[in-house]
Amino acid sequence: MERKVRIAAIGVGNRNGKYLRYVALHPDRVELAAIVEPDSVRMEACRKAFSLAPGQCFATAGEFFAQDGLCDGVIIGSPDKEHYSQAMAAISKGYHVLLEKPVAQTYGQCLDIARAAREKGVKVGVCYVMRLMPIYMKVKELLDGGSIGRITAVSHHEFVGIDRMLHTYVRGFWNKASESNPSFLSKCCHDVDALLWMTGAKIVSVRSVGGLEWYRPENAPEGSTQRCIDCPVEKACAYSAIDMYIRRGAWTDNFPIPEGKTKAEVLQEEMRSGRYGVCAFRCGNDVADRQVVTMKSSDGALLTVEMNAFTRREGRRTVISGTLGEILLDGWVIELRDHRSGEVSRYDFTSDASKPLHANADLAIVEDFICAMEDPSRRPAISIEDSLESHRICFEAG
Ligand SMILES: NC(=O)c1ccc[n+]([C@@H]2O[C@H](COP(=O)([O-])OP(=O)(O)OC[C@H]3O[C@@H](n4cnc5c(N)ncnc54)[C@H](O)[C@@H]3O)[C@@H](O)[C@H]2O)c1
Repeated sequence: MERKVRIAAIGVGNRNGKYLRYVALHPDRVELAAIVEPDSVRMEACRKAFSLAPGQCFATAGEFFAQDGLCDGVIIGSPDKEHYSQAMAAISKGYHVLLEKPVAQTYGQCLDIARAAREKGVKVGVCYVMRLMPIYMKVKELLDGGSIGRITAVSHHEFVGIDRMLHTYVRGFWNKASESNPSFLSKCCHDVDALLWMTGAKIVSVRSVGGLEWYRPENAPEGSTQRCIDCPVEKACAYSAIDMYIRRGAWTDNFPIPEGKTKAEVLQEEMRSGRYGVCAFRCGNDVADRQVVTMKSSDGALLTVEMNAFTRREGRRTVISGTLGEILLDGWVIELRDHRSGEVSRYDFTSDASKPLHANADLAIVEDFICAMEDPSRRPAISIEDSLESHRICFEAG
């Protein structure tokens, strides 16, 4: 491509905010040609940051897709329930797509996107950024090199963390499956993909147990009220919104602050009337707060993924057992243990912990998308086809 690649960002919230850092860092290579964002505060912040003209900013996807030739590719970082229609509209316009996960709300929709992209000859990449993180790349290299022999079992723990659970899956926009997706799919399709990619397992059966057990009205503390702000037992409650947002200031970067208002005012208003101020037991949420999914591979390995919302720590811990050794992956360190010699090799990626943007993988995925648009023979690092199996398994797990 002779000229700069032109991209459009659909939904300029948390995820696209990160992907657009790549555009800010590489103005010689890529240009932000348009944005779609219904929230006027977010739209204005992005418009200013990238010096966009008002004609490049669209409040709805319908207005954006009504025009032709606005860009070469779109990055879709809108809520899950918008992904399918927006991806299909982009493909029909001939735009390449970088699509956030989960890519749709049913497995049939995932297949539709893959089929439409094939027929139209456009590239669809999926934001499974774990595959571009050095630590997971190293685990794959060790497994591909036969370091633990034949894989027999994988035990993977997803520590959701209480604050993330409350903000995202209890009070937040991912709290109802019909509005987003089941929580295992939302949180763990990424993990399932990474496990399949690292181990090469071909899954032949899936079992799942779990559900929403705790964040339900019948478990609300005695004497509690609809909102934490006027709840007489708030101070004794481990799930208080006042404690989380006001006293501890956790997760408050996610609230857009309109011009002329302070963060403290926005948070007070949210506690009084917004969704994030509602009692954690009265949010009308329906997605699971715990789930364990076990998969069996064609060669007999058992892979278990546990989604646990009742942890203070966040992150992941994985044990991959094999006939010759095992790999323990905890936080940013890999330990490889040899069953015969007892030797332990350590690979320390702790320095990546301080790197923002998923240890720079958020930038790498955009770089990869730009390269795939520039080079007709190049496919995205993680294509929609690559993402189908993890989506199939998670939809089956429910
Ligand atoms: N790859 C990852 O590691 C990862 C991590 C978190 C979230 N996600 C996924 O990324 C997507 C976005 O999540 P987020 O955390 O950025 O959410 P967010 O709420 O911060 O951002 C979404 C943005 O989309 C806007 N929006 C709402 N309706 C829209 C519409 N119809 N058209 C266009 N924009 C619309 C919202 O106003 C918001 O600004 C979700 O699908 C989520 O599941 C991926």
